[in-house]
Amino acid sequence: MKSFSIAAVFAATTLAALASAQTPSSADKDVFEKACTACHGLEPIAAMTGNKEEWTDVVEDMIAKGAEIGNADKDKIVAYLVATYPKKAEKKISARPAAIVNQRGK
Ligand code: HEC
Repeated sequence: MKSFSIAAVFAATTLAALASAQTPSSADKDVFEKACTACHGLEPIAAMTGNKEEWTDVVEDMIAKGAEIGNADKDKIVAYLVATYPKKAEKKISARPAAIVNQRGK
């Protein structure tokens, strides 16, 4: 009995951790979909990746184009975009130590 309940607590904790790490809240998703699919589909958005600054630029650009997004919603939308379409870690590749590059080049 005791080991069963420990396993259940562990499973619940793991699921909760996974859910909070991977999925932004569904409320943010609703705000995003309402605000960002009024003029075009999801395609141009899904084709892009970015960090917080880059997505903030995009959202501000869309506001300049006429998207009706309040400040509170802007933060939610940027958070959703950063979590859903994060920047690829290209810097790690170019930061490879020179010594390793030389060894491989021999
Ligand atoms: C008022 C209409 C409108 C709304 C609302 C809107 N967009 Fe756009 N979006 C545009 C237009 C116009 C373009 C440019 C299309 C083109 O140049 O072919 C565009 C293009 C884009 C692109 C392609 C890259 C670029 O800058 O041209 C991305 C990414 C994008 N939008 C993201 C978003 C996101 C994220 C939202 C929600 C915050 C959003 N859009 C809401 C009008 C809008």
